[in-house]
Amino acid sequence: MNILIIGSGGREHAFAWKLAQSPKTGKIFIAPGNAGTSAWGTNVNLSPLDFSGIGSFCTSNRITMVVVGPEAPLVEGIHDYFLADPVLKNIPVIGPQKEGAQLEGSKDFSKQFMQRHHIPTAAYATFSPENISEGHLFLDTLKAPYVLKADGLAAGKGVVILSDLKEAKAELTAMLRDAKFGAAGSKVVIEEFLAGIELSVFVLSDGLSYKILPSAKDYKRIGEGDTGLNTGGMGAVSPVHFADAAFLKKVEDRVIKPTIEGLKNDQIPYKGFIFIGLMNCGGEPYVIEYNCRMGDPETEAVLPRIKSDLLDLFEGVATGTLDSRSYETDPRTAVVVMLTAGGYPGEYEKGDPITGLENVSGSIAFHAGTVEREGKVVTNGGRVLAIASLGSSMEEARKHSFRNAEIIQYTGKYYRRDIGKDLE
Ligand code: AMP
Ligand code: GLY
Repeated sequence: MNILIIGSGGREHAFAWKLAQSPKTGKIFIAPGNAGTSAWGTNVNLSPLDFSGIGSFCTSNRITMVVVGPEAPLVEGIHDYFLADPVLKNIPVIGPQKEGAQLEGSKDFSKQFMQRHHIPTAAYATFSPENISEGHLFLDTLKAPYVLKADGLAAGKGVVILSDLKEAKAELTAMLRDAKFGAAGSKVVIEEFLAGIELSVFVLSDGLSYKILPSAKDYKRIGEGDTGLNTGGMGAVSPVHFADAAFLKKVEDRVIKPTIEGLKNDQIPYKGFIFIGLMNCGGEPYVIEYNCRMGDPETEAVLPRIKSDLLDLFEGVATGTLDSRSYETDPRTAVVVMLTAGGYPGEYEKGDPITGLENVSGSIAFHAGTVEREGKVVTNGGRVLAIASLGSSMEEARKHSFRNAEIIQYTGKYYRRDIGKDLE
């Protein structure tokens, strides 16, 4: 099969790396890809939102499967675009159609979905510019801290948690009346604060059945000890030891099964990944959010722990035969350490040459924000490289990732040295 992977981060590099291992894989293309993906396929200079460009590329290059990495093209309807075209409709797309992608694209949609299907989540109410004062009254009924979420996609920045009631009211007004988050904030979900430990569970579904992929924990804050600004993710570990068999059974029974059944009952077709952000509150799982895709950098920890042929699983998704595909995981621990550009998540430099990549051993250096210029690999994003390692223990996996994090050099390199330490 000839596969087109959409996206340009560490997640897409990991997809290319994993799919290249399948005997069923023919050519791999990545649009637009990065300096690392070109080791596993051909980069194509197309934007993930250029649906007509992607469609023409697929027909002229005999693409037989499209794997969508990021959420934006899914929420914008890339899968629907393919289904609406008499030729492209025969090319399976891994990633849900627009309606299913609303699980991530609209917090209000996903909260209503969870409520309708009795999936445990924080109590909430949704407000719009017309009823800001009701929003203020609702905040009065809650206990601090207050959680306010822009309804739409806001590049991971749309959630504000405040401990002061007055500030929370002012924030609600800023989001709704002053359009602080633009159109994404035209509705705001206010929800009850959940205290607990976060983890993510990943599910691959063909809309009929599902496979539960390895769970992972990511490290969202820039600073060690979970301090400072939020980022796209500074590292990840898999598995998560506090998500033991008993907890995961609760997740399957109370969250995963009702989610898949709920999609079926609501007649929402769903072929792709469901990333379930969970809070473990004293041993009970609550859903914080759904994403309609894999996480980044969680993918770089999860895929190395899947022993099975990923393309075989994707074929199962495409043909509605996922149930019959074999699925096996690696019991080892994966640790991913993200190397970032100095200044990230604020302003940062691009174009700094990266050295030492050829000396990496015992880990995989998945490229996140890199590009090749005049034969050299240079930085091209805030998150530059995701160093992924497997080990028989967390300690061993951590050792490999941190050793290689030192070997790779570029100006302004930064990484958190405490990834996985809290779980050791
Ligand atoms: P989200 O974009 O919905 O994942 O929210 C971003 C982050 O905000 C989450 O990863 C949590 O750390 C935090 N968060 C979101 N909702 C809640 C909640 N109801 N209670 C506590 N923390 C939350
Ligand atoms: N690492 C979090 C995400 O991919 O949304």
